[in-house]
Amino acid sequence: MHSIKLVKQKLLVQIEVDPNPREVLKSVELKKLYSEIANLPPKQRGPYGKSINELKLSLESAVAEREAAMEDMSVEPIDVTAPFDVNSSLSDLLPTENGSQHPLTRELENVIDIFTRMGFDAIESRQIDDDEHMFSMLNFPENHPARDGFDTFRTEEGFIPPAHTSTMQNRILRAGKARLESGGNIAAVSCGRVFRNEDIDATHEHTFHQYEGVFVSDSATLGQMLGTLRSFFETYYGQKLKIKTQPAYFPFVEPGLEFAIERPAALGGKDGQWLEMLGCGMIHPNVLRAADIDPEKYRGFAWGGGIERLVMLKYGIEDIRHFESGKLAFLRKFA
Ligand code: DAH
Repeated sequence: MHSIKLVKQKLLVQIEVDPNPREVLKSVELKKLYSEIANLPPKQRGPYGKSINELKLSLESAVAEREAAMEDMSVEPIDVTAPFDVNSSLSDLLPTENGSQHPLTRELENVIDIFTRMGFDAIESRQIDDDEHMFSMLNFPENHPARDGFDTFRTEEGFIPPAHTSTMQNRILRAGKARLESGGNIAAVSCGRVFRNEDIDATHEHTFHQYEGVFVSDSATLGQMLGTLRSFFETYYGQKLKIKTQPAYFPFVEPGLEFAIERPAALGGKDGQWLEMLGCGMIHPNVLRAADIDPEKYRGFAWGGGIERLVMLKYGIEDIRHFESGKLAFLRKFA
């Protein structure tokens, strides 16, 4: 009996430390205890056998406990905020695929590059704004139906995630006023996300990007604007293009125009296929006044258009929804 106790103590410790605790159940000590049954006087065999069985049961439950504990420990805490899988082995951490810029980011940088080389400053467009910048300062009269054309979202507090980058015009004009008065020009492009509460289909998204240009000097002309825009499109598409304009109404320009290019043959276009690319015009005197710029002394032009449309034409992308989808199959084509 004494030896049973000793063996028990020893094996319980082994079960705690052995990397394979179940192996302890096959130990020689235990086998020896069993083999001794035969050497005992018949009377003692019963109680002795019972004790060994109890020992075996308690060893088995100790093994089960240790195994459960070991399994617990193999599930390490996961840092869900880690930018990579911290739980994988070192070789798994090495990237198997290079990341790449989102096509829109890349093309946005392209657009900004072209305009900054022409002398325009580039500023980011805001993603939350107010009624004044989005409408009032752009000569939209209160309650004018033209406001409805912009399908604006509004927060409960009355802020607006801008529906066009024109929301930046007043800030650009104010910031540039001093430069104008010291004999320089205002020349800036503002790019960024815009938001519209409209039905989504292959050509309409609730979230897209625009580029807005503003130029003011003491002698700006419509001809300069058309030259600037032609030069931009020809640089962006890398070829000569035919352009045309037609009258359009935007409260913040007078005259207002829609600017179209003939779909380049290299991009699958046929003669006479015109694509409207943006809205533009000579800045309305009221818009200059709202920025405290005297329309008798200074004049300017502005334009605003969608980046997605530019990029879709360039790469033959048929559905605007791809851009926000996050689909890897789409993104990998631009990697
Ligand atoms: N903001 C207009 C839109 O989103 C586009 C636009 C038209 C911008 C004429 C301009 C402009 O700067 O002069 O539909």
